[in-house]
Amino acid sequence: MSQLSQRPADPIVGETHHHESAFGHVTGQALYTDDLAGRFAGLLHAYPVQSTQAHAKLTGIDIDGAHQVPGVVRVITAADIPGVNDQGVKHDEPMLPVDEVMFFGQPIAWVLGHDLEAAKAGAAAVIVDYEPLPSLVSVRDAIEADSFHGVQPVIDKGDASGAFADAAHVFEGEFELAGQEHFYLETQASLAQVDENGQIFVHSSTQHPTETQDIVSHVLGVPAHEVTVQCLRMGGGFGGKEMQPHGYAALAALGAKLTGRPVRLRLSRTLDITMTGKRHGFHSSWKIGFTAEGKILALDATLTADGGWSLDLSEPVLTRAMCHIDNTYWVPNIRVAGRIAKCNKTSQTAFRGFGGPQGMLVMEDILGRVAPKLGLSARELRRRNFYSAGQDTPYYQPVRHPERMVAAWDQVISSAEVEAREAEIAEFNARNDNVKRGLALTPVKFGISFNLTAFNQGGALVLVYKDGSVLVTHGGTEMGQGLHMKMLQVAATTLGVPLSTVRLAPTRTDKVPNTSATAASSGTDLNGGAVKDACEQILGRLTQVAAGILGAPAHEVSVSHGIVSALSSKKTVTWEELINAAYFQRIQLSASGFYRTEGLHWDLSIMTGEPFKYFAYGAAASEVEVNRFDGSYRLRRVDIVHDVGDSLSPLIDLGQIEGGFVQGAGWLTLEDLRWDDSDRDSRGRLATQAASTYKIPSFSEAPEVFNVSLLDKAHEEGAVYGSKAVGEPPLMLAFSVREALRDAVAAFGASVTPSVELDSPATPESVFWAIEAVRSPAMADAGTQGHAAAPGDADAPGDAGTQRDADAPGDADAQSVPGGQEGISVPS
Ligand code: MTE
Ligand code: MOS
Repeated sequence: MSQLSQRPADPIVGETHHHESAFGHVTGQALYTDDLAGRFAGLLHAYPVQSTQAHAKLTGIDIDGAHQVPGVVRVITAADIPGVNDQGVKHDEPMLPVDEVMFFGQPIAWVLGHDLEAAKAGAAAVIVDYEPLPSLVSVRDAIEADSFHGVQPVIDKGDASGAFADAAHVFEGEFELAGQEHFYLETQASLAQVDENGQIFVHSSTQHPTETQDIVSHVLGVPAHEVTVQCLRMGGGFGGKEMQPHGYAALAALGAKLTGRPVRLRLSRTLDITMTGKRHGFHSSWKIGFTAEGKILALDATLTADGGWSLDLSEPVLTRAMCHIDNTYWVPNIRVAGRIAKCNKTSQTAFRGFGGPQGMLVMEDILGRVAPKLGLSARELRRRNFYSAGQDTPYYQPVRHPERMVAAWDQVISSAEVEAREAEIAEFNARNDNVKRGLALTPVKFGISFNLTAFNQGGALVLVYKDGSVLVTHGGTEMGQGLHMKMLQVAATTLGVPLSTVRLAPTRTDKVPNTSATAASSGTDLNGGAVKDACEQILGRLTQVAAGILGAPAHEVSVSHGIVSALSSKKTVTWEELINAAYFQRIQLSASGFYRTEGLHWDLSIMTGEPFKYFAYGAAASEVEVNRFDGSYRLRRVDIVHDVGDSLSPLIDLGQIEGGFVQGAGWLTLEDLRWDDSDRDSRGRLATQAASTYKIPSFSEAPEVFNVSLLDKAHEEGAVYGSKAVGEPPLMLAFSVREALRDAVAAFGASVTPSVELDSPATPESVFWAIEAVRSPAMADAGTQGHAAAPGDADAPGDAGTQRDADAPGDADAQSVPGGQEGISVPS
């Protein structure tokens, strides 16, 4: 069999195709879980009774009122659960509370009704008695109260505390960064049905059908083979459907089991926002030391993830955050301590990047803040600290191909004409008092694979029917990221048939068992490896048949575009003829494929190993324009160079890069989760519970000019057809927007570039206050206490000439937006 990463001549991978469901998406014909509801007779609808307390003892639930409501069929409480009352994997997450409610909005009971209105009215008629308990709503509250759960890992490499003594510059600070609501367009949805043998079939909008199956089976107290979970597709998951769907699927299944009728559970937007987990906000405190040349010598940081009420995926999210605090920078001496705050909020969970963005943001924030204090431009400071060949990460994984990161960085500098535009911006800023522009570059390095080695496996089932048509099922789920399209391309390439010969079947647990979540951006690596394996097994058998027909040795046989040929034979046959012949020779025409990523190891107890197959790299340059009077900004231009290896499907990769970037920009500059932390009755209530108060990016926030290109010469050895994962890494390219805002805010300050502190999210409101702070010199330095540790070196901050407002040469040529660039521009 050929090597995993090697492409045949004329492959279908690498061709530009639109998303396999693109027409369905735009015409509305693509079906999502809840669209199937109309097909079930006697369907019941579920509606929750939600807690109105942040934290309380549950002293009684009176469901009688609900039964008086016409159309109510059944009320489900914890007492109805026949198996284990737990919707998570850490056994700390009761599906329905027994004696304690843990957050405002937590479902306490569910009402099943003939229609949604009846279920809703029934839920309103349930009376819950509470005895309020003290609650913790913010991460700071939890830190003060010493309220933590789960592991408290430590990364410790070199001698961080000793190294500070040798540092020319030492800075300390704190930084709190906010979480993010997934805001997938399709909210959580499940549909469950029990057949005549008691077998349970659940349609679920889930990134992790196998775990949904596991949770349904343990909640019902039945073996896994009695439960089948299917996911047609998701209207977005973004990590929010990795763990969160399980409880809803189990509730629907339980309802179906109890009533014998199909049950539909679909959350409204507000139910979804108030009940489901989000991206973890983090608190960080840090101390960093630099050499006189501006090279990082040591970092000591504590990261506290705001975990919410139960662990969910907080431990691996924290681990990934810690493993990404270095981003693209070599930190020879480092100590990072991690912990998870336990508080009375939704249980925070996976979200695109899975903690990586939070860890990286801490570092990027530090560099953005301290660059002026080192007398360097932020761009120069970043560049000076890049990894070079032979260096390894804080967890001792060698950084392979750091030159690709440098290539992406340099390519952005030239394609975005960064130097000319910096000068142009300086000139613009000198001319304008109330509007300033800023430009920043930030790099990305993101580790691909699940940290936990065992999850790095994939499966597939490939069936070739007698007419030659091919049906592929794989263990991954489709959430808009284009995984299905890539799997079709991989199957067609491996078998040598046209794309139209291959079809994809919905993901379901009775086709491919024991799958991993479609997460960690590894859907293509894992399932692509498995699809390729299954196709190669079939092809291996077919080659023998073809050799007989063509009268040539088997190793000469090849299939391309559906034509079977051999070098030393003049004869050719079609794929269909070959399949027909193979069938009559009683050759097996189906195979289940398997893949596991080799060479990974990880020891959580000492936070060392090689958890990642490879790193994905990228670089972005963003330019903003900020208004002094209201802190509002425009994203004028974004240039991205991103490394996807040899792209399997360029259009899909481009979509992932653009979408990930915009989602990241939303997290960093717009989206603002606010929990009520007052002492009113509404304490713990999420105040931003709809699109009216929670602002996600829309078309008007998209960059006015958006140039995206893929890094070339980026073949990834040992990955499927030389490609790299793309799902999450581009999100972090949006750091450049936040850093550009910092740069623009700085321009409002005195002539020497001030150190600017920015909130995350840097909403217009907080940008306004940051401007106010730099305009009042007394406030400019608040919060970051810098001091020169080695007095002798204090006067050697390095290259003052790189400071951006040193001078403003007027380069008239740079005024025009360059033409002929790759990528697209989005009009506003
Ligand atoms: N793209 C779209 N359109 N919708 C999504 O929900 N999820 C992201 C990313 N891109 C997502 C997306 C997340 S969190 C991950 S981990 C990856 O897709 C998962 O898919 P992959 O492994 O196939 O890249
Ligand atoms: Mo993505 S956060 O790994 O589902």
